[in-house]
Amino acid sequence: MYSDLKPSFSFLILLFLCLQPLIFSLSTDASPPPTVCIVGSGIGGSSVAHFLRHYFHPSPSQPTPPNIKIFERSYVVGGRMATVSIGGESFEAGASILHPKNYHALNYSNLLGLKVKPPPASEDDDSMSLGIWDGKKFVFKTLQVDSKFPLVQKIVSYVNSFRIFFRYGFSLLKMGSFVESTVDSFLKYYESPERRPIFETVDEMLKWAGLYNLTTQTLQDELIGIKLSPLLIKELVTVITRINYGQSVYISGLAGAVSLAGSGGGLWSVDGGNWQMASGLINSSDVSLHLNEEIESISYLGEYYELNSTKRNSYSCEVAVVATPLDEVNIRFSPAVSIPERKLQHTHATFVRGLLNPFSSNLMKMIQLTKYFLEDQCQMHYWIAFLVQGCRQTE
Ligand SMILES: *[C@@H]1O[C@H](CO)[C@@H](O)[C@H](O)[C@H]1NC(C)=O
Ligand SMILES: *[C@@H]1O[C@H](CO)[C@@H](O)[C@H](O)[C@H]1NC(C)=O
Ligand SMILES: *[C@@H]1O[C@H](CO)[C@@H](O)[C@H](O)[C@H]1NC(C)=O
Ligand SMILES: *[C@@H]1O[C@H](CO)[C@@H](O)[C@H](O)[C@H]1NC(C)=O
Repeated sequence: MYSDLKPSFSFLILLFLCLQPLIFSLSTDASPPPTVCIVGSGIGGSSVAHFLRHYFHPSPSQPTPPNIKIFERSYVVGGRMATVSIGGESFEAGASILHPKNYHALNYSNLLGLKVKPPPASEDDDSMSLGIWDGKKFVFKTLQVDSKFPLVQKIVSYVNSFRIFFRYGFSLLKMGSFVESTVDSFLKYYESPERRPIFETVDEMLKWAGLYNLTTQTLQDELIGIKLSPLLIKELVTVITRINYGQSVYISGLAGAVSLAGSGGGLWSVDGGNWQMASGLINSSDVSLHLNEEIESISYLGEYYELNSTKRNSYSCEVAVVATPLDEVNIRFSPAVSIPERKLQHTHATFVRGLLNPFSSNLMKMIQLTKYFLEDQCQMHYWIAFLVQGCRQTE
């Protein structure tokens, strides 16, 4: 009896000794779970929530998954991915097209069961007409023949290709390979985390992928550097930067390269609106979403960050993520953060609903060239989006 009791007693003590540090750590370090506060519910903020939630692995120092809060000053999620509804029709009014090599966006769409669709203009590339208007006249126009015969259409398409080649020569090919190599540089960011360093600054991140030099000069200088014909830059490239960003070829080389990549094939968007990606990621990531709540100040108080909102609420978070352009918000940071001075241009989209005169042939020609042409040509009801430039260079 006696000999039986002794070992079990010492076992008890041992067990208690073993448990002691565990109980201690459970009652201090590990609970409650940390709170991650994300400012902004666009694709950046919603992606952070998604990756935190779905790639969390418990570890001794972090056994419980974080609480995630997202603050959005608007009444809807999605940031610059937004649609407007006019007369029962819905239009993309912000980030409207996605590149076929945007693998994150493709994965999100699959994961969330969203339907992918090509944008209206790229559906029938063969019969697409192209005209370049210099403000007074067409400086270049492809042939347009509406024939029922596929062979005739094919010939017209070859003639058009030949005429484009005649005008721009090999510059179009050079432009294509410039875009391709820029896109390939972007793809480096998809490499596995082991092969990818952790970046402290944006400069470092761009240098690692070989994209930094593009930020040091204008798109025009970049393209002259690779010996693109001035005619192509003046005509086609200008048209592309105008359509995509409402800007000229003096745009930064990096933004310009992105703009050119957005003129290629295989572009897509989410049926019903690209904003659904942000919405779906937030819905599936167990987030506490604070709509209509703007963050005014973020103060670092040693152990945690204190976020104060316009609703006079105060939140403490172990991690604070600002997923919104600092140039666009008025957050007071303590300690202050330095934001490099940047010249940005706002692009305003104005939607105009009108009834067009189908007998005005010039107008019809113009409209056939706009990207924003509605598919339903039978009704004489057209929607045109004019890109209006405003707020030239915010100081
Ligand atoms: C996309 O999903 C596939 C299949 O799940 C995965 O192998 C790939 O790594 C994902 N890509 C990205 C960029 O997350
Ligand atoms: C960027 O420019 C610097 C200085 O002109 C040059 O040394 C470097 O090789 C360039 N990097 C790339 C990736 O082109
Ligand atoms: C996410 O949830 C909200 C609220 O329940 C809903 O209105 C929205 O449609 C959902 N988003 C998606 C993409 O399903
Ligand atoms: C944030 O709110 C708390 C509580 O109301 C207050 O004590 C603190 O001074 C506020 N911080 C800032 C930076 O306004």
